[in-house]
Amino acid sequence: MAEARDVTTTTDKSDDEFAKFDFSVSEIPCLHYQSVEAERLISCEKPVVLRDSRVISTAMKWSLDYLEANMGDSKCNVYSSQTGRFKYFDDKKAQTFPGFECPMQLNEMTFDEFVRKVREWKAGDRALYLQQALNDTVKPSIVRDFIGFDWDWLNFHQAKQKWGPLTSNLVLIAMGGNITPAHYDEQHNFFCQVEGRKRCILFHPDQFECLYPHPVSHPCDRQSQVDFDRPDFSRFPKFKHVKGWETIVHPGEILYIPMYWWHYIESAKSDTTTTSITFWYRSGPTPQEITWPLSVEQKIAVTRNIEKMLHDALKNTEEVRELLHMIVDGRYPCERWDHERPFTQ
Ligand code: FUM
Ligand code: FE
Repeated sequence: MAEARDVTTTTDKSDDEFAKFDFSVSEIPCLHYQSVEAERLISCEKPVVLRDSRVISTAMKWSLDYLEANMGDSKCNVYSSQTGRFKYFDDKKAQTFPGFECPMQLNEMTFDEFVRKVREWKAGDRALYLQQALNDTVKPSIVRDFIGFDWDWLNFHQAKQKWGPLTSNLVLIAMGGNITPAHYDEQHNFFCQVEGRKRCILFHPDQFECLYPHPVSHPCDRQSQVDFDRPDFSRFPKFKHVKGWETIVHPGEILYIPMYWWHYIESAKSDTTTTSITFWYRSGPTPQEITWPLSVEQKIAVTRNIEKMLHDALKNTEEVRELLHMIVDGRYPCERWDHERPFTQ
């Protein structure tokens, strides 16, 4: 299914560019953006790398120098992390969650300041990651490039897949080696690579049990609890069996990350910086006709709602855990609840 790729894909991995993992991965297909197979994969909510598109061709000149010249004094959100891992957390939940330590720090600074810090960076300094929404604070030249995106193609897909609105476009400028740990989003993403290379490992939503998401009430909701570099198999034994889909996205390529698909993203170590732009779309309205059995994505939405309801009622994450155990251990004690077997007295 995957077409032959530029040889850099193979050499990327033979260098020490990316972390090494023991779990099994398959290659995400890389296809012409207008191919029938690419369209089919997007329609069935399967990841695919799209090549040869001109979707963000006007942003392909967004080098650090160009952005510095065109948005140098714009205020930007820059995260810093001592470990180079940028695990997202919800600031509001973090205020009240007992014992929570923020895995990264947010600083606001001008684009100029960010570039200066990156250029002056030395080993031992905190790694930096700029994550700035393209909003009305950007300069007219950037707005012109933005207007020049291939909105016909983007809007066509939004309508065809019956997605909801485009919620945001984030510009992501990572330092080489930065890692966004595994998490899933509740939106579809056309993830566009502008500069540098990113290794993306995706996991189907059915890998939920192998990836051990934090509870919904935790500040790191939607993030895996497993540290991929040092997995604690005594706490997370099923992580051994996780199966992923992998690619290295290169400048000009678009990775479609379907909603609820887990993704781990790592910038190539030898790239000083990597730049990406995200296009996040909400899912469409719930279909009128629901068919059973529910899909794994629908089941995940159900579990999220159950957890939210229990937490709203109990106001305590540990009590949610105890109550869920009480129900499962009390009413559903067997591996598989068997309809045929009569209840014994
Ligand atoms: O680091 C990243 O590129 C993350 C992107 C995402 O989570 O969508
Ligand atoms: Fe994400």
